[in-house]
Amino acid sequence: MDYSERLENVAVLGAAGKMGSGIVLLVAMEMADTALRSPSRRFVLHAVDVSHAVLSGLVKYLREQVQKAAEKKIVALRKVYADRADLIDNSDIVRQYVTDVLDIVRPTTMLEAAAEANIIFEAAPENLDLKLKLFAKTASDNPRQPWVFTNTSSIPIEEIAGKARLDGRVMGFHFYNPPAVQKLVELIRGRSTSDEVATFATTLCKSLRKVVVPSADVAGFIGNGHFMRDLLHGVAEVERLAATMPFVEAVYSVNRVSQDFLVRPMGIFQLADYVGIDVCQLIMAVMNPRLPGANLHSALVDRFMALGVGGGQNHDGSQKDGFLQYAKGKIVGVYDPNAKKYVPLSDFQAACDARLGPLPEPAVAWKDVVRDKAKDARLSQFFGALKSVKTSGAELALAYGARSREIGLKLVSDGVARNADDVNQVLLTGFFHAYGPINAYFG
Ligand SMILES: NC(=O)c1ccc[n+]([C@@H]2O[C@H](COP(=O)([O-])OP(=O)(O)OC[C@H]3O[C@@H](n4cnc5c(N)ncnc54)[C@H](O)[C@@H]3O)[C@@H](O)[C@H]2O)c1
Repeated sequence: MDYSERLENVAVLGAAGKMGSGIVLLVAMEMADTALRSPSRRFVLHAVDVSHAVLSGLVKYLREQVQKAAEKKIVALRKVYADRADLIDNSDIVRQYVTDVLDIVRPTTMLEAAAEANIIFEAAPENLDLKLKLFAKTASDNPRQPWVFTNTSSIPIEEIAGKARLDGRVMGFHFYNPPAVQKLVELIRGRSTSDEVATFATTLCKSLRKVVVPSADVAGFIGNGHFMRDLLHGVAEVERLAATMPFVEAVYSVNRVSQDFLVRPMGIFQLADYVGIDVCQLIMAVMNPRLPGANLHSALVDRFMALGVGGGQNHDGSQKDGFLQYAKGKIVGVYDPNAKKYVPLSDFQAACDARLGPLPEPAVAWKDVVRDKAKDARLSQFFGALKSVKTSGAELALAYGARSREIGLKLVSDGVARNADDVNQVLLTGFFHAYGPINAYFG
């Protein structure tokens, strides 16, 4: 089966979820583009999820997103539809492309539909038992021997291969959130993953214009291997600081330092809220028993979940409250688990900022520097200045940067990442950092 034949029949499990919907969008457009080049073939994508309500949300999302994508690539589409005399204006072409993509997608709640597929993308929640149940019904004993690309964030691929009887034909295809925007895909081969499967995955990523970083098949891979440990450093700093200041002030301080002083797109607790405290807990629960001695566990995360404070996003994409409270996307408070309520920032922000001290001059904001060609020089100057000011903000930031670097180096020495560039690439393209953790700033 060649590339386009293989793509003729695809299924996405968990199609209406955060990751699944983006995967459906990207793969359906790739299928439509392939179909337009080989008009004699029929392409079908089974978009499987649990209810018609969530699937109709998926279709709405696809319609909007395909329209935007078509408008962006209108010049190429004019060529593709050159022999269609009926398509005159750009709007005719956009409409036709939306129809062609949506015609490929078959939303369904019938899991059995996926058993017809040559390729199954799996983007169900991060729960091994659920994933195994889905594979048992669609892939394990299927005589078609479909290939399985799982979007798991943390579960080792070879463990899935063994437990789901998918030897040779399962691979980690780890998109970042949201898949249509984030450039990074971590590809994870299990020990048994065949060359054919791996070659196909690489070719597909290239067609999707993704940046591929291979990760070893170690729980959490590179991305969460770094993120979970980085989060645990933030949690440990909060616990240390909370001995001498109120808990909410400690959370605010560490969050601010990990954003403004480290020149990152968001602070560590805002990132945990964005990903979902529940998701962080699940990922650690997968990683911890599989990485003896790594101690990837947080009593604070467990406490927040027990209190029902979980972050994540609302259906409209807005941020749910978690460690931090949000109003119109801005942080307005910090949760106090003892009082079981949010404390407004206005009560303590000024005092905390004074304690942290000013940012060294010239200050560098993430959004100004991230696309600046001169960012290395600007960051070097900024972090150099950070080393010479003796404020508590600088001290916390230098320790944080050093820990992040140490985590990155360990991922390389443990063989999870091939080299420092791969670790840095994951943080640059998957987490939008302006610089990789393995750098000279904190060395
Ligand atoms: N959210 C992220 O930032 C992110 C990033 C990378 C990878 N991932 C991974 O992607 C996977 C999906 O995560 P998500 O954030 O999209 O979750 P999600 O909860 O947004 O989506 C999961 C989808 O699966 C559906 N589902 C549940 N049970 C099902 C079943 N029995 N059959 C079919 N569909 C079912 C749900 O209805 C939901 O639409 C997880 O493995 C996660 O670890 C998530």
